[in-house]
Amino acid sequence: MTLSRVIAFFIAALGAIFGSLLHADELPAIKNENGWAQLIIHGKPFLILGGELGNSSAGTAAQADSILPKLAGMHFNTVLMPVAWQQIEPEEGHFDFSLLDHWMAVARQQHLHLVLLWFGSWKNAFSNYAPEWVRSNTRRFPRSLSAEGLPLEILSMLGEETLRCDARAFSSLMRHARETDADQQTVLMVQVENEMGYLGRGGRDRSPVANQLFRANVPAELRHGLEARRLQMSPELAAHFHSAGRTWQEMFGEAANEVFMAWHYARFVNQVAQAGKKEYALPMYVNAQLPSPFEQAGEYPSGGPHPYYLEVYRIGAPSIDFYSPDIYWPNFEYWVQRYQMAGNPIFIPEARLDSSPYNALYAYGEAKGFGFSPFGVDSLGSSEASPGPQPGMADVYNTLNQFSTILLEAQARNHTRALVLHASSPRPSQTVSLGGYLFQASLARSWPARTLLTNDGAMLVIEGKSNEFYVVGSGLTVDFFRDPDTDDRLAGITRIEQISVKDGHWETDRELTGDQTNQGRQLLMSAHELHVYRVTLYCYKKPAVQ
Ligand code: DGJ
Repeated sequence: MTLSRVIAFFIAALGAIFGSLLHADELPAIKNENGWAQLIIHGKPFLILGGELGNSSAGTAAQADSILPKLAGMHFNTVLMPVAWQQIEPEEGHFDFSLLDHWMAVARQQHLHLVLLWFGSWKNAFSNYAPEWVRSNTRRFPRSLSAEGLPLEILSMLGEETLRCDARAFSSLMRHARETDADQQTVLMVQVENEMGYLGRGGRDRSPVANQLFRANVPAELRHGLEARRLQMSPELAAHFHSAGRTWQEMFGEAANEVFMAWHYARFVNQVAQAGKKEYALPMYVNAQLPSPFEQAGEYPSGGPHPYYLEVYRIGAPSIDFYSPDIYWPNFEYWVQRYQMAGNPIFIPEARLDSSPYNALYAYGEAKGFGFSPFGVDSLGSSEASPGPQPGMADVYNTLNQFSTILLEAQARNHTRALVLHASSPRPSQTVSLGGYLFQASLARSWPARTLLTNDGAMLVIEGKSNEFYVVGSGLTVDFFRDPDTDDRLAGITRIEQISVKDGHWETDRELTGDQTNQGRQLLMSAHELHVYRVTLYCYKKPAVQ
């Protein structure tokens, strides 16, 4: 090493030490700037390469020992794990965090972060994660009633003792997290409750208290909040909001039951989050079960934080930092877009595992998400890394891990785009524009026979230097054009390399030429294996037409 290199090394090391000391006591936080949100940990943006555990996979210490090393080996950097109310407070007022402590210890050894999912009063609308002393005392902890007046396995969101005890348990959890983890910050964020909402015909709690409140006037706070936010309202809410009305029915018409439930769930969850933040102010979010077409409120959880009436939550629950969709329906992009609203960062806590490798590229690249997390990742075998028809999650996270600094910087400058294509997509090709060029992708075909090689493909494009792009993906063939909105020049390919990181540096594994670029005219990705391609383009003046 030359002297100048030694000096540079020490300066960098000192910078890293002072940098981490400087930010040691800053809590993880969501920073919203220029329309993009990032999760900041120890002063630096962090990309969550996450996975959520199955519901029965975080109930023993042995499960931590077997699952967490496996996920760390598959390049996950964050695990979303349930913490059940019944597990931490089996007897009223007696808390037991020993299981969580073990999970945190193993996560630290594996250099993993955790997001805690508070399965408190509700999990998928129902209340079966509440302790037995809560569920068995229906006088103290009232249930929601069905349209027939029968008690449901759903705690009423109007139960005062339910709120007090849920908030007390949650704040004990947050206090414990602060006392045991604030210096290490293994735990990054917390989801408050899980897929809240009322399941039952009519979509509204019919208990006497609920009926009485439903007949009364809409609270002024909600009315004024909505009047001030007319421009932000979803089309569904705007279509039903009649500000001159006084009662729920007058003001919201056919949507009255659902908006009523949304308001009261929002007020409840806000107070739980507020109590928790008093102890330890980590970012807190709530997740939604999404409606499917033609479903009525009550067939999906009525009053949950889904996009139709989300503005009601944003007024009623200021302690919630953001709202997240659990996306199991096929139209992944549509549901992500419904949550791309000002001030709501994109974090997908649950998604179908089988389509997640490609959807992850969309979430990070097109929606500038700071995190993505397929559901049930503990079911992945370690051999998942060797792909079936799509690359595996391990391949995607391995690649994005190498890329995270570049990706985070590019997200913040709006220099990323992404798309996913399926054989069933309504269009055979899709185009994104970046850095003055159009990237037109279609599903990969063989060369020269042109037969379809794959049913799905995806790419995440990052603009590096001028005219230089990183394309992460597989299953696509990409054509390049000059974007006519930039100038009237024509585009050409200078060079396409397949690259990977070795010893911290990008290296060219293969220069793609000849047949592998359709004679210099296209990027032909591998049909099934995920790769990073560095594409260098040029543009030139259009010849004058005689
Ligand atoms: C959504 C829930 O939030 C999860 O806990 C799990 O039940 C999944 N659905 C799928 O089973």
